[in-house]
Amino acid sequence: MDILSVLQTNFLSLVLGVIVFVLLWMNRGKKSSFERLPPGPPPSPIVGNLFQIDLAEPYKYYLQLCNKYGSVCTIWLANKPVIILSGYQAIKDALVTQGEEFNGRAQYPLLVRSTNGFGVLASSGQRWKYLRRFSIMTLKNFGMGRRSVEERVQEEARSLVKAFHEFDGAVFNPKELLCNAVSNVICSIVFGHRFEYKDPEFLLLYDTVNAYFDVLNSPIGILYNTFPKFVECIPGKHKKLFALLQKAQDYVKNQAEIRLKHLDANSTPQDYTEAFMIKMIQEKDLPNSEFHYDNLVSSVWNLFAAGTETTSSTMRHALLMMIKHPDIQARVHKEIDEVIGQERSPSMDDRSKMPYTDAVIHEVQRSLDLAPTSVPHKVNVDTEFKKYFIPKDTMVLPLLSSVLIDPKLWKNPENFYPENFLDEEGRFKKNDAFLVFGLGKRACLGEGLARMELFLFFSSLLQHFTFVGTKPPEEIDTTPTSCSFGMMPRSYDFYAKPRA
Ligand code: HEM
Repeated sequence: MDILSVLQTNFLSLVLGVIVFVLLWMNRGKKSSFERLPPGPPPSPIVGNLFQIDLAEPYKYYLQLCNKYGSVCTIWLANKPVIILSGYQAIKDALVTQGEEFNGRAQYPLLVRSTNGFGVLASSGQRWKYLRRFSIMTLKNFGMGRRSVEERVQEEARSLVKAFHEFDGAVFNPKELLCNAVSNVICSIVFGHRFEYKDPEFLLLYDTVNAYFDVLNSPIGILYNTFPKFVECIPGKHKKLFALLQKAQDYVKNQAEIRLKHLDANSTPQDYTEAFMIKMIQEKDLPNSEFHYDNLVSSVWNLFAAGTETTSSTMRHALLMMIKHPDIQARVHKEIDEVIGQERSPSMDDRSKMPYTDAVIHEVQRSLDLAPTSVPHKVNVDTEFKKYFIPKDTMVLPLLSSVLIDPKLWKNPENFYPENFLDEEGRFKKNDAFLVFGLGKRACLGEGLARMELFLFFSSLLQHFTFVGTKPPEEIDTTPTSCSFGMMPRSYDFYAKPRA
């Protein structure tokens, strides 16, 4: 062997040795960082704890785990650890006290597939901070929580009442009308105008949101989030969703491009899309600006997706509770008659004078428990939490459900009990454990709008109708149907009897 070959062999051995050393070192690091994870059930190879989770009701399994292992525990989805936070104190310690570490958004595959990490809901770090600040400011400037949006919601509420009247006392399912009304409020904020319900552009956005939640809430959704590459190759409803998503996002982008041609950067923006495009023009020479088409399209999609199904499901649950509890409905009617009467539309000023109705709406939200595991977070950096170590980018699920049904925090948590939000004198009583919108800096940015819609839609409908079920109240099942990410009210038909 000549000297060159000896050198080459030695060099190769050295390189191989270094690679093996680096791999071992990396694995050792990983192993030791996983060793201080919170406790949890032992995972199986490859699948982790996937087969122990009831895919239809995963949050119930998480609740059981937290009873067994404590308020912070770990499960494994395939080879990835997921931290579950349970109980008010643990959730507050993480999302508020250590909020900077815990306010990242987990890049779960369905979210990545629908946004590529762009947009206010999907992003983390600096991008998220810019987009969140911009979104909150913009929605505020258009009057979220102020008059002009209130007027739009009131107008939509009047259309809703009219549409209910058209059934003329006949039986119907309110789902579609409620979705239409709620979607139209978001449309008018995001696009500047409402749509006719049969408009093909409206239907495209509407169908896409429905398809997204349908997949998200089905076993195929949780499978996709665990084995995306595999599920991507098999047929199923996720395929239809991806095609629809592409169409809807192309539509949003086309609309923006058309409007950009005629946009005056010094004008007052009329809607969210326009405000975003003005920022795009102002920052066009900044190399790292977050105001570009990808963030625009995904943020619009985020507002649409996060703002429609949530509020309309809550409204459906509210009306279901009215047919289940005619006595509670009668008390709401009485309060509406005393404070608003029949001559004018309800307004936000009425809310403080209507503690019972306000309490009923809060209890509707608590009992629905719409997002039992919130929207998944991640830790932005390696994080020491309590006595545990959570490696950077690990997914975190705040189990909001554990707080909303905690018997130490609520009277009668398994039942519908508006008194949870009333004091001895019948005044509205706040409860810090009302975590339906999440907690901390990442909490729902549409809370003000959602609360306005719920109050105005609910009180407008109850002002005009008495709702009666197709079966006696004792036979009506009000347990929400549970799914991987959300709780949905059961489908039902009812009568909307005009009040004399
Ligand atoms: C009853 C109605 C609603 C409920 C129960 C609800 C609940 C939630 C929850 C639990 C989160 C996750 C918070 C977290 O990550 O910790 C969230 C986030 C979000 N919601 Fe809502 N939401 C509702 C209505 C709305 C509306 C009307 C809008 C639109 C204006 C909206 C826009 C958003 C956005 C954009 C986020 C992501 C915020 C971020 O990542 O910074 N939501 N919501």
